[in-house]
Amino acid sequence: MSSATGTLAAIREAPGLEEYLDALEERLARSVASHPGLVAAVGNEALAAGGKRLRPLLVFFSTPAGQEPSIAAGVAVELVHMASLIHDDLIDRAHFRRGKAAAWSVYGPDAARATGDYLFARAFAELAATGDAEAVGILADATLCLSRGEALQRTQTNDPTTTVEAYIERCGLKTGKLFEAACRLGGGSGAYGLALGVAFQIADDVLDCSGVTIETGKIAGTDLRDGTPTLPLLLAAQQDDEVRAALAGGPVEGVLVRVAATGALQRSTEVALDYARQARACLNGELHREELESLTHAVVNRER
Ligand code: IPE
Ligand code: IPE
Ligand code: MG
Ligand code: MG
Repeated sequence: MSSATGTLAAIREAPGLEEYLDALEERLARSVASHPGLVAAVGNEALAAGGKRLRPLLVFFSTPAGQEPSIAAGVAVELVHMASLIHDDLIDRAHFRRGKAAAWSVYGPDAARATGDYLFARAFAELAATGDAEAVGILADATLCLSRGEALQRTQTNDPTTTVEAYIERCGLKTGKLFEAACRLGGGSGAYGLALGVAFQIADDVLDCSGVTIETGKIAGTDLRDGTPTLPLLLAAQQDDEVRAALAGGPVEGVLVRVAATGALQRSTEVALDYARQARACLNGELHREELESLTHAVVNRER
């Protein structure tokens, strides 16, 4: 067992969490099944494939003392996340997700697009039903940022001169903002969530260079093949002309080995650890401070 798995296992023992996650799964399933048809069936497959449910965990652990953690908020953030994954795999032409064939590769692009749209709609319906207009606004903002992040990524594609600053901006938009929203919906620190999300995305980008499918449920090398300038690829490209050429759209065969040889994976992990430290620095006497702190280690030190 890796230390990250150990950390997550300890986190899962928090009082009330098991009941929260059980209720969450039940509500997720009901929400996805609410309008039977193709998109509900495709959505249900994505749901059944699992996932870490990290964003609902953030809702739970951000909830202040004396308050009930919101199931609706957990369901809504996870549904937005799932919708974004289904659309993202279509954009990235990624064939594998959560250890299964990606929705678009089984059902085609149109069904995948419609399923993502359906899940977005279900997310907002769940949150709107609570009557909390501020919460709906927070989630709407994060969802807009998600698509802005994907759009920014499009403009950065095949550009090895993308700056680290522009890359971090993209991570904040496509991943950080939903983490921020999850924490705010729970009642906690958005700044913690934003920094945690950036750390998480950098770690994901390292895993795309070095991860194994049996752990990640995804196929490594997708970012390089797509010409997506992630931090490890950008840092490696500064030192290795073949990496640079591959990122610009040239041949990718054998290039991930060269990326690793530059030390870019370790240097990227250092940057992720720095964002994890920034996330920790935002914490201040929270009810679940210990778990929130453990998460800052777990998001970087992970295999899946
Ligand atoms: C994957 O998110 C997308 C990124 C933001 C990198 P997760 O790694 O949280 O995906 P699941 O929910 O566990 O499958
Ligand atoms: C994160 O980017 C995607 C979203 C936030 C939707 P990636 O493209 O790196 O995520 P994975 O690797 O496909 O999960
Ligand atoms: Mg992707
Ligand atoms: Mg990735």
